[in-house]
Amino acid sequence: MAWVLIVASLVVLWVASLCKIFYTSSSPSRNSFLTTGGAFQKRNVLLVVAHPDDESMFFSPTISYITSRGHNLHILCLSIGDADGKGNIRKEELYQACAILKVPLQQVKTLDHPELQDGFGRVWNHTLLAKIIEGEINSHGIDLIITFDRYGVSGHCNHRDVHYGVRKLLRDTPQGNIEAWELVSTNILRKYIGPVDIWFSILDAMQHSGEVMHCLLNEHPQKSFLAMAQHSSQWVWFRKLFVAFSSYTYANMLRRIECI
Ligand SMILES: *[C@@H]1O[C@H](CO)[C@@H](O)[C@H](O)[C@H]1NC(C)=O
Ligand SMILES: [Zn+2]
Repeated sequence: MAWVLIVASLVVLWVASLCKIFYTSSSPSRNSFLTTGGAFQKRNVLLVVAHPDDESMFFSPTISYITSRGHNLHILCLSIGDADGKGNIRKEELYQACAILKVPLQQVKTLDHPELQDGFGRVWNHTLLAKIIEGEINSHGIDLIITFDRYGVSGHCNHRDVHYGVRKLLRDTPQGNIEAWELVSTNILRKYIGPVDIWFSILDAMQHSGEVMHCLLNEHPQKSFLAMAQHSSQWVWFRKLFVAFSSYTYANMLRRIECI
């Protein structure tokens, strides 16, 4: 009997969390991410990821937030994800996913650099990364970067190196007119409780000022699922489960990267 109650309360909690997501994301607030009080200012945002599918699997609440509010989003994917020799397919899948996520395809760039190849144990040169990202910033007038944090959500070394590449760039760009935010990696328990994690994220964000931390709820979690489904070569049963149960499908916690 007890397990029936537990399952029932989990279902109720899950549904209540989804309601909260749909309700909150449809009511705009003034001091939200990218809008600090005053008039609307269109931002040029660059999302830097390591592999095709990182954008759909981890960053879709952020992408949806940025594009639905009329900002300009560019995506830089630093490899074609060729660890299994499927790089050319995966690159195409990224474009299909971006079409679902409403990111203009001419603003999506993938690299296939010999020194930046997908794989565990492949060390990516932070100086090289910083140089490449800086080039992207200059050619598109980027004023804000979003990327992984130092753990990189799944702990993948390529994700972590991308973070350090951005950090290096910030350190080497002394004028400091570029704002950078990182996707906060949560612990394993919070990572797999789906929409229920939003309560932890909202509480976390409330304890910090909007200068430092934001919790972005995903207006369209079903769109994330659809975007991830475009990555057909990756769309196996355990990834379907991952996307359904991952809290990154429902909300993103972003933290400002401070460089000292
Ligand atoms: C890293 O990349 C930079 C710039 O391309 C290069 O000058 C440097 O030698 C590289 N470092 C290593 C360890 O390969
Ligand atoms: Zn990845």
